[in-house]
Amino acid sequence: MNPSAPEKKRMQPFEILLTREKIDKRIAEIGRQINNDYAGEAPVLLGVLKGCVVFLADLMRTIKLPMEVEFVSAASYRNGHDRDDRVQFGGAVPTELKGRHILIIEGIVDTGRTVSLIKKQLAAQEPASVEIVALLDKPGSHRVGLDIKYKGFSVGNEFVIGYGLDNTQLYRNLPFIGKMVDQ
Ligand code: IMP
Ligand code: MG
Repeated sequence: MNPSAPEKKRMQPFEILLTREKIDKRIAEIGRQINNDYAGEAPVLLGVLKGCVVFLADLMRTIKLPMEVEFVSAASYRNGHDRDDRVQFGGAVPTELKGRHILIIEGIVDTGRTVSLIKKQLAAQEPASVEIVALLDKPGSHRVGLDIKYKGFSVGNEFVIGYGLDNTQLYRNLPFIGKMVDQ
């Protein structure tokens, strides 16, 4: 073993909260709503990295409209479960967003600060509209007023993982939503 290799990360116990079947069904419903609401338009799906990736990949394949994908990085710094409320933007958005219909795609909304800051930043680019699409929402944790137009599921204040969502960068690959359980 290489002594300078980083310590191996290990997964901790978790249990399933939302099955893949349930998530698939709900995403198909959201896709149908978006197809209806944006008929005749060509929306831009703006994914919030990294938690959006699995949700976005599934959702975009239910969309029957001409559409584009862009990404934005917004890290609300966390150390495991503990949070520090700074939000930082990286990730250039090269597409001209002026006059476009934008759907911000989030894996999970917690305090709502991340999406609301992204929304504020986008306003400077004068898009035609900006709506929020979140696979999961923790309504009990919001710290800012938010209108999530398309929401997969509401969850409680527990820490959830999988389907793109991480805990210390692990578990994003789980094909369902789970929650950590005490050992
Ligand atoms: P907000 O700015 O507090 O809404 O934070 C949203 C971000 O926090 C999401 O994009 C996630 O990266 C992260 N987050 C919040 N709650 C959870 C959770 O339960 N599991 C995994 N990530 C979470
Ligand atoms: Mg995270």
